[in-house]
Amino acid sequence: MKKIKKDKVLEFIEIDPVNSKADRWPAFVAFRKNSNPCRIIFDKFQESKVISCFVVLSGYSPSPSQEPIMDRSSRNRLNDHQLSRFDGETLFDRIARSVCHAGCLPRKELFEAWETARRVRRRFRGGRVVDLACGHGLLAYILMLLDDSSPEALAVDLHIPESAGALAAALEETWPRLRGRIRFEQGEIEKIALTPDDLVVSVHACGALTDLVLERAMVAGSRVAVLPCCHHLDDGNMGGLQGWMDGPLAIDATRAARLSSQGYKIYTQIIPRDITPKNRLLLAEPA
Ligand SMILES: C[S@@+](CC[C@H](N)C(=O)[O-])C[C@H]1O[C@@H](n2cnc3c(N)ncnc32)[C@H](O)[C@@H]1O
Repeated sequence: MKKIKKDKVLEFIEIDPVNSKADRWPAFVAFRKNSNPCRIIFDKFQESKVISCFVVLSGYSPSPSQEPIMDRSSRNRLNDHQLSRFDGETLFDRIARSVCHAGCLPRKELFEAWETARRVRRRFRGGRVVDLACGHGLLAYILMLLDDSSPEALAVDLHIPESAGALAAALEETWPRLRGRIRFEQGEIEKIALTPDDLVVSVHACGALTDLVLERAMVAGSRVAVLPCCHHLDDGNMGGLQGWMDGPLAIDATRAARLSSQGYKIYTQIIPRDITPKNRLLLAEPA
């Protein structure tokens, strides 16, 4: 066993005090997952709540080569301080470095978009990409990078974040071939015209917005992929299944059944749960 530098910092974590629930704090998640002897040092407090802490190695480690752990569900924005975490030559590392340069994207959104995009592209190639409720539009960018046979992408959101421009600039600087091929439109999903050739995607369109995305895709006859979130149990359609399974699962199962009844072939997958518990990915194409 090699000696590891004492108190080497594995992770510095800022915690959103508003949303912090002790068992979900990234520091505790990291602490539980780490096989090295480690401990948490609380750094700052605000109104008696911890707002940042360090996870540090202490003493000896049975696996000294282990990479520092990374909480992939963190909402902290990626910036150039995290570049060393993505120092490989894979496409993912290169995308992550561009995202770091942009300095505006919560870490979890990088992993959500990547894990969704690569599963979508294993099934669906080509066509115009239409990213509905796109936020920063990273999903559209990654789908274009993974399959150059899609000529263009449209990224739509009611409120496009100002920082979406910084992210687009960073990605287009690394991949100039994307310039002019991804268009942002600020507006309602309801007003977007879709065609059968489109690939409609949506990550974490809240509650009934996911149903709207699916309806729009079905009416147009487009391929579609959604990663739903925030299931509203009071008015969501559970298809009568809530006696057998939890409400959110019943809503997603009913969505899949509806696509199927409309002549769609469906594919059900999940993205890794450590990124988000809202991890059910539903893909569908006209049969
Ligand atoms: C939880 S965010 C998801 C953003 C992004 N897809 C992501 O994964 O980070 C939901 C987004 O839906 C957008 N939105 C809500 N209602 C909408 C509507 N009717 N039309 C278009 N976008 C809408 C919001 O502005 C918000 O950006």
